[in-house]
Amino acid sequence: MARRERVLSGMRPSGGLHLGNYLGALANWVTLQDDYDCFYFSADWHVLTDRSETRDVPANTIEMAADWLGAGLDPERSTLFIQSWVPEHAELLLLFSMVTPVGWLERVPTYKERIEQQEIVSPSYGLLGYPLLQAADILMYKAAWVPVGVDQVPHVELTREVARRFNNTFGPVFPEPDAKLTQIPKVPGTDGRKMSKSYGNDIELADSEETIRQKVRPMVTDPARKRRTDPGNPEVCPVFDLHRIFTPEPDLTTAATGCRTAGIGCLDCKDILLKHMLPPLGRIRERRQAFAEKPDAIVEVLRDGSRRAQVVARQTMAEVREAVHLSP
Ligand code: TRP
Ligand code: SF4
Repeated sequence: MARRERVLSGMRPSGGLHLGNYLGALANWVTLQDDYDCFYFSADWHVLTDRSETRDVPANTIEMAADWLGAGLDPERSTLFIQSWVPEHAELLLLFSMVTPVGWLERVPTYKERIEQQEIVSPSYGLLGYPLLQAADILMYKAAWVPVGVDQVPHVELTREVARRFNNTFGPVFPEPDAKLTQIPKVPGTDGRKMSKSYGNDIELADSEETIRQKVRPMVTDPARKRRTDPGNPEVCPVFDLHRIFTPEPDLTTAATGCRTAGIGCLDCKDILLKHMLPPLGRIRERRQAFAEKPDAIVEVLRDGSRRAQVVARQTMAEVREAVHLSP
């Protein structure tokens, strides 16, 4: 069999994942395992660009990894690891920092956004360097593909420029990766805004069936449909966005038509949705719970993955050190 192309992606360990994280990224990670040599990691150093309070990071890492495994990431086929357990990433970042103009980093849109949104008065060197650390994460494994959302595309672009600059300066070591854009369905939260932990409108993979029901029942619908007898418009209803993801025909059309004709009420409509969304989420939840109950086994998976990642990282760093040509 021909050597499979490599895929690399990471997530910051911020605890259990929600439906938006799953449908926007994790489900795709799982699928990619069939065709690629996948490396997936917990970007724990990246947390420090946000805050120095790390008390909850270890538990958050376990919860996130439980979701990875529950959703079907297979540690036999994919290399699952923790960034800080492969400290070679830091050495590569240091060397990249020598060939990267500060202006390239100042121009990265996520940098400006973070400063504005979080009103950061004195941005750290680490925050400025965030995308460069990401470039080191990616290039360390000579990944061909980086599955990310559109917001991360500038980081992959920067990674390509850094690879080119390094290769021109020291010699050809790094291939240029490409972003692999995921078709991300619209995943609204229960209040109709984008699903996000910080809005408190999310449905988590760890949520029990009862919790999901309690979150879906009061969910925001077409605001024009005030009474049961008012016809509604599925096109503007966040509940219907979830229908599109979970509900197959003929129930999808039944819901849409029932809404437009006021043939069904919003609660009936949500029951149809629950009928289709609870079973697949139940399967993920049961598996993720089984893992979450054995945190030591999760740590072992990540330790083993980090060891395997480090073998690749050491190989790359040997080439890099040779190219940089410092040692007598
Ligand atoms: N920056 C990514 C995010 O915020 C996480 C990340 C860190 C990453 N390093 C990476 C993603 C390398 C892909 C490849 O979501
Ligand atoms: Fe939304 Fe369904 Fe109510 Fe229509 S019937 S407004 S699609 S919840």
